[in-house]
Amino acid sequence: MRIITNSEKETFKLAKDFSEKLKGGEIIGLIGDLGAGKTIFTKGLAKGLGVKKMVNSPTFVLMKIYDCQNHKTIKKLVHIDAYRLNSEKDIEAIGAAEYFGRADIITVIEWADKIKKVLPKNTKFITLKQNKLNRIIKIN
Ligand SMILES: Nc1ncnc2c1ncn2[C@@H]1O[C@H](COP(=O)(O)OP(=O)(O)OP(=O)(O)O)[C@@H](O)[C@H]1O
Ligand SMILES: [Mg+2]
Repeated sequence: MRIITNSEKETFKLAKDFSEKLKGGEIIGLIGDLGAGKTIFTKGLAKGLGVKKMVNSPTFVLMKIYDCQNHKTIKKLVHIDAYRLNSEKDIEAIGAAEYFGRADIITVIEWADKIKKVLPKNTKFITLKQNKLNRIIKIN
């Protein structure tokens, strides 16, 4: 699926709608350059899953875990920023792998291309391409 969004709001809404299809256990890999909208997408996803806390880029802490309120099956959203990660060891070091695939957790990873090798095969990749006036978002 290929969608063009013309504003931050549209990307947020797209992600919120996308979140409604999630069952739990999905790993979502976001791929796109600086400012492409990865964090905006994550915010929309979080909103859709019932996260009440403010979601920000976890660039410095690498991983944040949010509680999902009022969702039937999904209890937590794990948000990883792989910008500073390089290897399998790094993903182990931050303790991320233990969350992968758990039925009550959604994992979303910014800069997923940096750790593609260590991501589970069923990772759903979403690419965001930045243009001056819009974003082209591909959901595989
Ligand atoms: N169609 C759009 N979708 C999403 N963001 C947009 C769009 N048009 C403009 N923007 C702007 O682009 C920026 C996207 O920022 P965001 O933090 O989500 O990017 P990012 O991919 O997470 O960057 P980083 O790599 O630094 O983490 C915001 O300032 C937002 O307002
Ligand atoms: Mg970001």
